[in-house]
Amino acid sequence: MSTTIYFFSGTGNSLAIARQLAEPLHADLVAIKDSLRAAEIRPGSDRVGIVFPVYNHRIPFIVKRFAEKLRGIEQAYIFAVGTYGDSPCIAFEYLANIIANSGGRLSLGQGVKMPYNYVRPADGIRGLFQPFVLKETTPSEQALLFAAAEKTVAGIVCDVQAGKQTVLQMEYGTIEHLSDFLNLRETLQKSVWLKIGGYKGKTDLASIECVQLMDHAFQVNERCVGCGTCAKICPVGDIELVDRRPQWQHHCEQCFACLQWCPEAAIEFGSGTAGRERYHHPAISRSDMLNDP
Ligand SMILES: Cc1cc2nc3c(=O)[nH]c(=O)nc-3n(C[C@H](O)[C@H](O)[C@H](O)COP(=O)(O)O)c2cc1C
Ligand code: SF4
Ligand code: SF4
Repeated sequence: MSTTIYFFSGTGNSLAIARQLAEPLHADLVAIKDSLRAAEIRPGSDRVGIVFPVYNHRIPFIVKRFAEKLRGIEQAYIFAVGTYGDSPCIAFEYLANIIANSGGRLSLGQGVKMPYNYVRPADGIRGLFQPFVLKETTPSEQALLFAAAEKTVAGIVCDVQAGKQTVLQMEYGTIEHLSDFLNLRETLQKSVWLKIGGYKGKTDLASIECVQLMDHAFQVNERCVGCGTCAKICPVGDIELVDRRPQWQHHCEQCFACLQWCPEAAIEFGSGTAGRERYHHPAISRSDMLNDP
Protein backbone atom coordinates (compact mmCIF):
# COMPACT_ATOMS: atom_id res chain seq x y z
CA MET A 1 0.00 0.00 0.00
CA SER A 2 1.52 3.35 -1.03
CA THR A 3 1.55 6.21 1.51
CA THR A 4 2.49 9.88 1.15
CA ILE A 5 2.89 12.06 4.23
CA TYR A 6 2.79 15.83 3.71
CA PHE A 7 4.21 17.92 6.52
CA PHE A 8 4.61 21.51 7.62
CA SER A 9 6.93 22.42 10.48
CA GLY A 10 8.45 25.60 11.92
CA THR A 11 10.64 24.28 14.74
CA GLY A 12 10.92 20.61 13.84
CA ASN A 13 8.27 19.04 16.11
CA SER A 14 5.97 18.12 13.23
CA LEU A 15 8.88 17.04 11.03
CA ALA A 16 10.13 14.71 13.80
CA ILE A 17 6.65 13.20 14.15
CA ALA A 18 6.24 12.92 10.36
CA ARG A 19 9.51 10.96 10.24
CA GLN A 20 8.41 8.67 13.08
CA LEU A 21 5.21 7.92 11.17
CA ALA A 22 6.89 7.54 7.78
CA GLU A 23 9.27 4.78 8.79
CA PRO A 24 6.79 2.08 9.88
CA LEU A 25 4.27 3.13 7.21
CA HIS A 26 6.95 3.10 4.46
CA ALA A 27 5.73 6.52 3.44
CA ASP A 28 7.21 9.16 1.17
CA LEU A 29 7.65 12.50 2.96
CA VAL A 30 6.76 15.68 1.08
CA ALA A 31 7.11 19.25 2.40
CA ILE A 32 3.83 21.16 2.09
CA LYS A 33 5.78 24.37 1.31
CA ASP A 34 7.15 22.70 -1.86
CA SER A 35 3.93 20.99 -2.94
CA LEU A 36 2.09 24.33 -2.96
CA ARG A 37 3.82 25.47 -6.15
CA ALA A 38 1.44 23.25 -8.18
CA ALA A 39 -2.04 24.51 -9.07
CA GLU A 40 -3.52 21.18 -7.89
CA ILE A 41 -2.07 18.58 -5.53
CA ARG A 42 -2.75 14.98 -6.58
CA PRO A 43 -1.08 12.61 -4.10
CA GLY A 44 -1.75 9.47 -6.20
CA SER A 45 -1.23 7.16 -3.22
CA ASP A 46 -3.56 4.83 -1.30
CA ARG A 47 -2.94 6.59 2.01
CA VAL A 48 -2.37 10.31 2.55
CA GLY A 49 -1.06 11.71 5.83
CA ILE A 50 -0.98 15.40 6.79
CA VAL A 51 1.25 16.42 9.72
CA PHE A 52 1.25 20.01 10.98
CA PRO A 53 1.42 22.18 14.11
CA VAL A 54 -1.88 23.37 15.60
CA TYR A 55 -2.09 27.17 15.27
CA ASN A 56 -4.60 29.34 17.08
CA HIS A 57 -6.82 26.30 17.91
CA ARG A 58 -7.00 25.35 14.25
CA ILE A 59 -4.54 24.78 11.43
CA PRO A 60 -1.82 26.96 9.87
CA PHE A 61 -2.91 29.13 6.94
CA ILE A 62 -0.44 27.27 4.67
CA VAL A 63 -2.06 23.92 5.57
CA LYS A 64 -5.48 25.37 4.72
CA ARG A 65 -4.19 26.43 1.29
CA PHE A 66 -2.62 22.99 0.81
CA ALA A 67 -5.84 21.11 1.71
CA GLU A 68 -7.86 23.34 -0.61
CA LYS A 69 -5.63 22.26 -3.51
CA LEU A 70 -5.97 18.50 -2.94
CA ARG A 71 -7.55 16.63 -5.85
CA GLY A 72 -8.14 12.98 -6.79
CA ILE A 73 -8.43 11.95 -3.12
CA GLU A 74 -11.89 10.37 -3.24
CA GLN A 75 -10.58 6.81 -2.74
CA ALA A 76 -7.59 7.61 -0.49
CA TYR A 77 -7.43 6.85 3.22
CA ILE A 78 -6.60 10.26 4.73
CA PHE A 79 -5.19 10.79 8.22
CA ALA A 80 -3.98 13.92 9.99
CA VAL A 81 -1.63 14.39 12.94
CA GLY A 82 -1.41 17.78 14.64
CA THR A 83 1.41 18.55 17.06
CA TYR A 84 0.36 20.97 19.78
CA GLY A 85 1.52 22.57 23.03
CA ASP A 86 -1.80 22.90 24.88
CA SER A 87 -4.68 21.34 23.00
CA PRO A 88 -5.61 20.36 19.43
CA CYS A 89 -9.01 22.06 20.01
CA ILE A 90 -11.00 21.77 16.77
CA ALA A 91 -8.08 21.59 14.30
CA PHE A 92 -9.15 18.24 12.85
CA GLU A 93 -12.80 19.19 12.42
CA TYR A 94 -11.67 22.37 10.64
CA LEU A 95 -9.35 20.37 8.36
CA ALA A 96 -11.99 17.67 7.75
CA ASN A 97 -14.38 20.29 6.35
CA ILE A 98 -11.78 21.55 3.88
CA ILE A 99 -10.88 18.01 2.81
CA ALA A 100 -14.58 17.24 2.30
CA ASN A 101 -14.83 20.28 0.00
CA SER A 102 -11.84 18.92 -1.93
CA GLY A 103 -13.69 15.60 -2.42
CA GLY A 104 -12.04 13.49 0.28
CA ARG A 105 -12.76 12.25 3.79
CA LEU A 106 -10.56 12.71 6.84
CA SER A 107 -10.70 9.29 8.52
CA LEU A 108 -8.42 9.93 11.46
CA GLY A 109 -7.22 13.07 13.26
CA GLN A 110 -4.97 12.73 16.27
CA GLY A 111 -2.96 15.25 18.30
CA VAL A 112 0.55 14.72 19.64
CA LYS A 113 1.60 16.94 22.55
CA MET A 114 5.02 18.53 22.04
CA PRO A 115 6.95 21.53 23.41
CA TYR A 116 5.05 24.78 22.82
CA ASN A 117 7.13 26.99 20.49
CA TYR A 118 5.26 30.30 20.51
CA VAL A 119 4.49 33.29 22.74
CA ARG A 120 1.75 33.16 25.36
CA PRO A 121 0.70 35.00 28.53
CA ALA A 122 3.20 34.61 31.39
CA ASP A 123 2.18 32.11 34.09
CA GLY A 124 -0.06 33.20 36.96
CA ILE A 125 -1.10 36.75 37.83
CA ARG A 126 1.93 38.19 35.99
CA GLY A 127 0.28 37.15 32.73
CA LEU A 128 -2.36 39.86 33.19
CA PHE A 129 0.21 42.67 33.26
CA GLN A 130 3.04 41.50 31.01
CA PRO A 131 3.20 41.15 27.23
CA PHE A 132 3.09 37.64 25.78
CA VAL A 133 6.36 35.83 26.45
CA LEU A 134 8.18 33.07 24.58
CA LYS A 135 7.43 29.78 26.33
CA GLU A 136 10.46 27.90 27.62
CA THR A 137 10.47 24.12 28.14
CA THR A 138 13.26 22.53 30.17
CA PRO A 139 15.21 19.55 28.74
CA SER A 140 13.59 17.21 31.28
CA GLU A 141 10.08 18.45 30.37
CA GLN A 142 10.99 17.93 26.71
CA ALA A 143 12.20 14.37 27.39
CA LEU A 144 8.88 13.49 29.06
CA LEU A 145 6.90 14.97 26.15
CA PHE A 146 8.99 13.10 23.55
CA ALA A 147 8.63 9.78 25.39
CA ALA A 148 4.82 10.21 25.55
CA ALA A 149 4.75 11.32 21.91
CA GLU A 150 6.53 8.14 20.80
CA LYS A 151 3.77 6.07 22.40
CA THR A 152 1.06 8.22 20.80
CA VAL A 153 2.71 7.84 17.40
CA ALA A 154 2.92 4.04 17.81
CA GLY A 155 -0.85 4.03 18.44
CA ILE A 156 -1.51 6.21 15.39
CA VAL A 157 0.57 3.85 13.20
CA CYS A 158 -1.56 0.88 14.40
CA ASP A 159 -4.79 2.83 13.73
CA VAL A 160 -3.65 3.85 10.24
CA GLN A 161 -2.56 0.29 9.42
CA ALA A 162 -5.97 -0.94 10.60
CA GLY A 163 -7.71 1.71 8.47
CA LYS A 164 -9.64 3.19 11.43
CA GLN A 165 -12.53 5.37 10.29
CA THR A 166 -13.79 8.76 11.43
CA VAL A 167 -11.89 9.24 14.64
CA LEU A 168 -11.28 12.96 15.01
CA GLN A 169 -9.86 14.14 18.33
CA MET A 170 -11.60 17.31 19.55
CA GLU A 171 -11.30 19.43 22.70
CA TYR A 172 -13.16 22.60 23.77
CA GLY A 173 -15.54 22.07 20.83
CA THR A 174 -18.47 23.79 22.56
CA ILE A 175 -16.44 26.92 23.40
CA GLU A 176 -14.91 27.07 19.92
CA HIS A 177 -18.28 26.64 18.18
CA LEU A 178 -19.87 29.27 20.44
CA SER A 179 -17.04 31.67 19.65
CA ASP A 180 -17.62 31.05 15.93
CA PHE A 181 -21.38 31.50 16.38
CA LEU A 182 -20.79 34.87 18.08
CA ASN A 183 -18.26 35.76 15.38
CA LEU A 184 -15.67 36.45 18.10
CA ARG A 185 -12.90 34.93 16.05
CA GLU A 186 -13.31 37.47 13.27
CA THR A 187 -13.74 40.44 15.61
CA LEU A 188 -12.27 40.42 19.13
CA GLN A 189 -9.80 37.56 18.62
CA LYS A 190 -8.63 38.98 15.32
CA SER A 191 -7.85 42.38 16.81
CA VAL A 192 -5.97 40.80 19.76
CA TRP A 193 -4.07 38.57 17.32
CA LEU A 194 -3.06 41.54 15.14
CA LYS A 195 -2.04 43.57 18.17
CA ILE A 196 0.30 40.77 19.29
CA GLY A 197 1.71 40.79 15.75
CA GLY A 198 2.45 44.51 15.89
CA TYR A 199 0.01 45.45 13.10
CA LYS A 200 -1.72 48.76 13.75
CA GLY A 201 -3.83 49.14 10.58
CA LYS A 202 -7.21 47.68 9.64
CA THR A 203 -7.64 44.66 7.39
CA ASP A 204 -10.45 42.73 5.75
CA LEU A 205 -8.41 39.51 5.85
CA ALA A 206 -10.06 36.61 7.66
CA SER A 207 -8.60 35.73 11.05
CA ILE A 208 -6.65 32.70 9.75
CA GLU A 209 -5.10 34.86 7.00
CA CYS A 210 -3.99 37.61 9.38
CA VAL A 211 -0.82 35.73 10.28
CA GLN A 212 0.62 37.23 7.11
CA LEU A 213 0.65 40.65 8.77
CA MET A 214 1.93 39.49 12.13
CA ASP A 215 5.56 39.78 11.04
CA HIS A 216 5.32 43.51 11.91
CA ALA A 217 6.34 42.54 15.45
CA PHE A 218 9.68 41.01 14.37
CA GLN A 219 12.80 43.07 14.97
CA VAL A 220 16.46 42.25 14.62
CA ASN A 221 18.98 43.21 17.32
CA GLU A 222 22.70 44.04 17.28
CA ARG A 223 23.71 40.36 17.54
CA CYS A 224 22.79 39.78 13.87
CA VAL A 225 25.86 38.68 11.86
CA GLY A 226 24.11 38.71 8.47
CA CYS A 227 24.40 34.91 7.98
CA GLY A 228 21.09 34.66 6.08
CA THR A 229 19.81 31.55 7.94
CA CYS A 230 16.50 33.29 8.68
CA ALA A 231 15.87 34.03 4.98
CA LYS A 232 16.83 30.49 3.94
CA ILE A 233 14.74 28.73 6.58
CA CYS A 234 11.56 30.75 6.06
CA PRO A 235 9.13 28.33 4.36
CA VAL A 236 7.43 31.05 2.32
CA GLY A 237 10.26 33.42 1.38
CA ASP A 238 8.94 36.17 3.66
CA ILE A 239 12.42 37.46 4.55
CA GLU A 240 14.68 39.55 2.35
CA LEU A 241 18.19 40.43 3.43
CA VAL A 242 18.86 44.13 2.94
CA ASP A 243 22.41 45.19 3.86
CA ARG A 244 22.70 41.71 5.47
CA ARG A 245 19.76 42.39 7.80
CA PRO A 246 16.39 40.61 7.57
CA GLN A 247 13.36 42.55 6.41
CA TRP A 248 9.94 40.92 6.61
CA GLN A 249 7.65 41.14 3.58
CA HIS A 250 4.23 40.62 5.19
CA HIS A 251 3.25 37.24 3.83
CA CYS A 252 4.31 35.42 7.00
CA GLU A 253 2.98 32.06 8.26
CA GLN A 254 3.99 32.92 11.85
CA CYS A 255 5.82 29.58 12.13
CA PHE A 256 8.60 31.16 14.26
CA ALA A 257 11.33 29.33 12.31
CA CYS A 258 13.27 32.57 11.73
CA LEU A 259 13.25 33.50 15.42
CA GLN A 260 13.87 30.01 16.78
CA TRP A 261 16.62 28.95 14.34
CA CYS A 262 18.65 32.19 14.22
CA PRO A 263 22.09 31.02 15.44
CA GLU A 264 22.65 34.32 17.29
CA ALA A 265 19.17 34.65 18.84
CA ALA A 266 19.14 38.03 17.10
CA ILE A 267 15.42 38.05 16.19
CA GLU A 268 12.83 39.27 18.69
CA PHE A 269 9.03 39.29 18.47
CA GLY A 270 7.53 42.23 20.34
CA SER A 271 8.98 42.59 23.82
CA GLY A 272 8.30 39.10 25.18
CA THR A 273 11.13 37.09 23.59
CA ALA A 274 14.26 38.97 24.75
CA GLY A 275 16.45 36.80 26.95
CA ARG A 276 14.20 33.75 26.56
CA GLU A 277 15.63 30.38 25.56
CA ARG A 278 15.14 29.50 21.88
CA TYR A 279 13.67 26.12 20.96
CA HIS A 280 13.82 23.61 18.15
CA HIS A 281 13.32 19.87 18.24
CA PRO A 282 16.70 18.39 19.30
CA ALA A 283 16.63 15.61 16.68
CA ILE A 284 16.04 18.05 13.81
CA SER A 285 18.89 20.13 12.39
CA ARG A 286 18.93 23.33 10.36
CA SER A 287 19.85 21.34 7.27
CA ASP A 288 16.89 18.97 7.90
CA MET A 289 14.69 22.05 7.75
CA LEU A 290 16.37 23.43 4.64
CA ASN A 291 16.38 20.22 2.59
CA ASP A 292 13.54 17.85 1.91
CA PRO A 293 14.13 14.76 4.04
C1 LIG B 1 1.45 30.82 15.51
C2 LIG B 1 1.36 29.68 16.48
C3 LIG B 1 0.14 29.38 17.05
C4 LIG B 1 0.03 28.31 17.93
N1 LIG B 1 -1.20 28.01 18.45
C5 LIG B 1 -1.33 26.93 19.25
C6 LIG B 1 -2.62 26.58 19.75
O1 LIG B 1 -3.63 27.20 19.44
N2 LIG B 1 -2.72 25.51 20.57
C7 LIG B 1 -1.62 24.76 20.92
O2 LIG B 1 -1.78 23.79 21.66
N3 LIG B 1 -0.38 25.06 20.46
C8 LIG B 1 -0.21 26.12 19.62
N4 LIG B 1 1.02 26.43 19.13
C9 LIG B 1 2.18 25.56 19.49
C10 LIG B 1 2.52 24.58 18.38
O3 LIG B 1 1.37 23.97 17.85
C11 LIG B 1 3.46 23.46 18.85
O4 LIG B 1 4.54 23.93 19.57
C12 LIG B 1 3.92 22.63 17.66
O5 LIG B 1 4.39 21.38 18.11
C13 LIG B 1 5.02 23.29 16.84
O6 LIG B 1 5.33 22.44 15.76
P1 LIG B 1 6.54 22.69 14.76
O7 LIG B 1 7.82 22.57 15.56
O8 LIG B 1 6.43 21.56 13.79
O9 LIG B 1 6.38 24.01 14.15
C14 LIG B 1 1.17 27.51 18.26
C15 LIG B 1 2.40 27.82 17.67
C16 LIG B 1 2.50 28.89 16.79
C17 LIG B 1 3.84 29.19 16.16
S1 SF4 C 1 19.69 34.26 11.05
FE1 SF4 C 1 20.01 35.75 12.67
S2 SF4 C 1 22.16 36.36 12.50
FE2 SF4 C 1 21.59 35.36 10.57
S3 SF4 C 1 20.91 37.07 9.24
FE3 SF4 C 1 19.08 36.28 10.22
S4 SF4 C 1 18.87 37.57 12.05
FE4 SF4 C 1 20.95 37.87 11.34
S1 SF4 D 1 8.99 35.19 8.49
FE1 SF4 D 1 9.59 33.84 10.17
S2 SF4 D 1 7.66 33.34 11.19
FE2 SF4 D 1 7.12 34.20 9.19
S3 SF4 D 1 6.93 32.41 7.86
FE3 SF4 D 1 9.02 33.13 7.65
S4 SF4 D 1 10.18 31.94 9.15
FE4 SF4 D 1 8.01 31.72 9.66
